[in-house]
Amino acid sequence: MLLSIFIGSLPLLSAAVPQTTQQTSTPSTGATESYDYIVVGTGAGGLVVADRLSEAGKKVLLLERGGPSLGSTGGMDQPNWLNGTSLTRFDVPGLFQSMFQGNDPFWWCNDIAVNSGCLLGGGTAINGGLYWYPPDSDFAVANGWPPSWTSHQRYTTKMTARLPSTDHPSTDGQRYMMQVADVTAALLETQGYTSMTINDAPNTKDRVYGYSAYSFLNGRRAGPIGTYYHTAVGRSNLVYKQYTTVLNVVRKGADIIGVKTNNTSLGLDGVVPLMPNGRVILSAGAYGTPRILFRSGIGPTDMIDIVKSDAFAGPLLPPREQWIDLPVGYNVSDNPSITLVFTHPSVDAYDNWRPIWDNPRPADAAQYVRDQSGVFSQPSSRLNFWRSYKGCDGKTRWLQGTARPGASSITTAYPYNASQIMTITTYLSTGVTSRGRIGIDANITALPLIEPWFTEPIDREIMIQGIKDLVGNVDQVSGLTLITPDNTTTIENYVNGYAKRRMNSNHWVGSCAIGPRGKGVVDESTRVYGTKNLFVVDASIIPSLPMGNPHGTIMAMAEQAAAKIMALPADLVN
Ligand SMILES: Cc1cc2nc3c(=O)[nH]c(=O)nc-3n(C[C@H](O)[C@H](O)[C@H](O)COP(=O)(O)OP(=O)(O)OC[C@H]3O[C@@H](n4cnc5c(N)ncnc54)[C@H](O)[C@@H]3O)c2cc1C
Ligand SMILES: *[C@@H]1O[C@H](CO)[C@@H](O)[C@H](O)[C@H]1NC(C)=O
Ligand SMILES: *[C@@H]1O[C@H](CO)[C@@H](O)[C@H](O)[C@H]1NC(C)=O
Ligand SMILES: *[C@@H]1O[C@H](CO)[C@@H](O)[C@H](O)[C@H]1NC(C)=O
Ligand SMILES: *[C@@H]1O[C@H](CO)[C@@H](O)[C@H](O)[C@H]1NC(C)=O
Ligand SMILES: *[C@@H]1O[C@H](CO)[C@@H](O)[C@H](O)[C@H]1NC(C)=O
Ligand SMILES: *[C@@H]1O[C@H](CO)[C@@H](O)[C@H](O)[C@H]1NC(C)=O
Ligand SMILES: *[C@@H]1O[C@H](CO)[C@@H](O)[C@H](O)[C@H]1NC(C)=O
Repeated sequence: MLLSIFIGSLPLLSAAVPQTTQQTSTPSTGATESYDYIVVGTGAGGLVVADRLSEAGKKVLLLERGGPSLGSTGGMDQPNWLNGTSLTRFDVPGLFQSMFQGNDPFWWCNDIAVNSGCLLGGGTAINGGLYWYPPDSDFAVANGWPPSWTSHQRYTTKMTARLPSTDHPSTDGQRYMMQVADVTAALLETQGYTSMTINDAPNTKDRVYGYSAYSFLNGRRAGPIGTYYHTAVGRSNLVYKQYTTVLNVVRKGADIIGVKTNNTSLGLDGVVPLMPNGRVILSAGAYGTPRILFRSGIGPTDMIDIVKSDAFAGPLLPPREQWIDLPVGYNVSDNPSITLVFTHPSVDAYDNWRPIWDNPRPADAAQYVRDQSGVFSQPSSRLNFWRSYKGCDGKTRWLQGTARPGASSITTAYPYNASQIMTITTYLSTGVTSRGRIGIDANITALPLIEPWFTEPIDREIMIQGIKDLVGNVDQVSGLTLITPDNTTTIENYVNGYAKRRMNSNHWVGSCAIGPRGKGVVDESTRVYGTKNLFVVDASIIPSLPMGNPHGTIMAMAEQAAAKIMALPADLVN
């Protein structure tokens, strides 16, 4: 068997390693290396949990279907202007908009119908880096969490100790191209908002605004890849395998005995076994984890029946009497988001981020290459804000806003100056009651079956109210013009006519929600009901939307999940 050991960025050793006989082998899968924990997926959840398990001395196998991302992990995807550096598309914050460009966007999962990252770091390798320390409401009973999860601060502090946020990522401490922040702040001031450093007081989220905060270090993308990943792979008791897809878990009824991968070099038929009392943790994301569960005979019967019909996956299912009926894929949510486009004479639209890969502004590129300072040390976002609204159903919902130069789509009857465009995206966050369903189609592509945006009319009403309030004082900011929607379209008509799929924020949660038996998919230690030793630690267990863009909340959740999983007795029974 071949073992590749990755330490830091370089494959140090890739050689045949003789099989040891000390390892307990599982007879049904042959004498292959076996593990205490197999963690599937390296996103916001998987990297944190793999790091904490290996720190505690567990023997861990970390599997990822994609390849490297940051230069420090072996990534190579680089524009010419970064020649001679070890920096990639994924390192440079200012290349965020390039994720939506390019002829061969290998970083997107090719079998998930919404944007989803399939490389080391998952979504955290390709996301906008917006990083919010979770407010208490993110783990509140009112948001669907069991009472045992509400004291999150200890775990949140563990996360912020590893990865503090910054709202001035440039290595010279300066902020660049801040006109959009100034213009948006002026608009919000007319509505009674106050300015703050957002992550200084995570619970303060009503009529506040502040500079965008990021999970970046030293002017580069960091997130869990630049932190937890490096310590995890530095340990000899953790093995990391990239380009390895997990197809299903291998079950003997409630007992998980290993994972089936697509690489037959990793074990007989590609199966990697667990040690006795070992555990599998699925961290394959809000779409990836449900698919692995369906393929393992866990979930609603209609989804498993689709697997059953597949020539390759069908025969790998356990017998029907072992299927576990759980609401996997139900009750998902994602922030409905609506973009508003403005012009202001002070704004530099930065050529709408189009030339950043092939033809960046030379001074900005040179400055970034020199010392990771300047425009390229930030992604496009500049300012964020929140406001709360009480709905006629008595529930409070929060509206988040993100302001940035440029715009992806403009519809107006009037001429406008494209060099001066800026976008404010409004999102409905905590308190959203709309829910959808995700699943798989006949090709086992994961997709939304019921779109989760505005299935509850009150969510739409609050969004309309929030946007009306936001644009109500545009006239009071000299030079500011709302161009989409322009004055030929009412806010109601704009929101009501907005294509559902354009409301996608890529913040999916809830497809394997934590909850009581009979309602949730995982219990309060994140164990899948009906199994002895299968766990889920990723966005899919989060029962309802957090306050902001979610990767901070997911990482803090994973810190807590790792502690809860390790606190369980060694010999679990179903
Ligand atoms: C374009 C975009 C922009 C975003 N911007 C922000 C932002 O600015 N701030 C923010 O907080 N959030 C943002 N998000 C959302 C955030 O990145 C995700 O919520 C977060 O990454 C989800 O973490 P996760 O651990 O649940 O799963 P993911 O990060 O999706 O990780 C899942 C991992 O599992 C791997 N995997 C999947 N299936 C398998 C399998 N069968 N076998 C092996 N490996 C597998 C995947 O390759 C991936 O690496 C953005 C998302 C997108 C797509
Ligand atoms: C399969 O796994 C072996 C052992 O880790 C590795 O050397 C090989 O490159 C893998 N194959 C592919 C196609 O990734
Ligand atoms: C960078 O390298 C590529 C090929 O690797 C080359 O075509 C290009 O000219 C180089 N660019 C610069 C600015 O050196
Ligand atoms: C397994 O899947 C990954 C992701 O699709 C792929 O890169 C890899 O080559 C596959 N391995 C084998 C052995 O086919
Ligand atoms: C458009 O905006 C740019 C940048 O502010 C400015 O230089 C240019 O003169 C404007 N063009 C027109 C026609 O007003
Ligand atoms: C599955 O894939 C085939 C071949 O690419 C395609 O023709 C078919 O439409 C797909 N089916 C679904 C349900 O998407
Ligand atoms: C609508 O906007 C256009 C362009 O900004 C402007 O010329 C026009 O006067 C506006 N009409 C009304 C009724 O406000
Ligand atoms: C889905 O959410 C609704 C309320 O929003 C709740 O009544 C129902 O029990 C939930 N279902 C599952 C499977 O969690």
